Amino acid sequence: MSTPQILDGIAVASEIKSEVALEVAALTARGITPGLAVILVGNVAASEIYVRSKVKTCGELGIYSEMITPPESIATEELLEIVASLNARNEIDGILIQLPLPTHVDTKRLLEAVSPDKDVDGFHPVNVGRLVSGQPGLQPCTPAGVMEVLRRRNLPVSGKNAVVIGRSDIVGKPMAMLLLNASATVTICHSRTANLPEVTRQADILVAAIGRPGFVTPEMVKPGAVLIDVGINRLTDQAEVTRFFPNNEPRQALFAKRGSVVIGDIDPAAFPTSSAYTPVPGGVGALTIAMLMSNTVKAATLRRS
Ligand code: GUN
Repeated sequence: MSTPQILDGIAVASEIKSEVALEVAALTARGITPGLAVILVGNVAASEIYVRSKVKTCGELGIYSEMITPPESIATEELLEIVASLNARNEIDGILIQLPLPTHVDTKRLLEAVSPDKDVDGFHPVNVGRLVSGQPGLQPCTPAGVMEVLRRRNLPVSGKNAVVIGRSDIVGKPMAMLLLNASATVTICHSRTANLPEVTRQADILVAAIGRPGFVTPEMVKPGAVLIDVGINRLTDQAEVTRFFPNNEPRQALFAKRGSVVIGDIDPAAFPTSSAYTPVPGGVGALTIAMLMSNTVKAATLRRS
């Protein structure tokens, strides 16, 4: 078997961001500066890192951004008021509510309160409906980013067997729908799927989005498949690091230094069986932010020009 192609998500994200920056410059020249508002409730460390990265990227591309950081204790009603005021402001094109929210907050109600025209996450039922019925609209960033990797690296989708492991509203379901819209034959697998390895072995394109470290093992992969790893999991146990990265000196050294390393949902031992794969880190992660920027500019263009 030939050496698999590494699908460099950082490189693809850079391509997208360069294009977005040009669009931002063209809009700004016409007096339209795209604007993104990010709502981050409480102090979830991982969410803070993601949100800071989103705001920073806005700055790099010339997109106006603001961060709203209400305390953990904020009530749903108050959050609804914040969303209503953002909906009403013309200079705000995108509204992103970082998930997960505290358990006392009515997440569904809040996501439905965002104007569908400003719903840069693509989570509003109107945009979900548009995606399902194949109409143009704002699409969830991570699955849309995966489609960009496939398209920009000339990996054909039409007529292929695509298997998505995971059925979340954020990744699994929209991913399956995008692959279907691109004429793949799509199967969605989840925790109740019978004979999972038998199903995944049919996949020409296998997307793992379950949040379980190294879940996809070599026996689950068809030789020559394209592997897309959406998982970002942190290993803090030496034995696990040794198991997943037995001959990987840099990763061992990183663990020794930091006490943790990240791994995707795909066991790296499965990579040599594939024809192409997204690594973790350096794969799909960077695309989520690039597509958020792209969606913000799309929303600005549709709403204001
Ligand atoms: N939390 C994890 N992923 C996402 C995402 O894509 N959007 C939002 N809003 N929150 C998230």
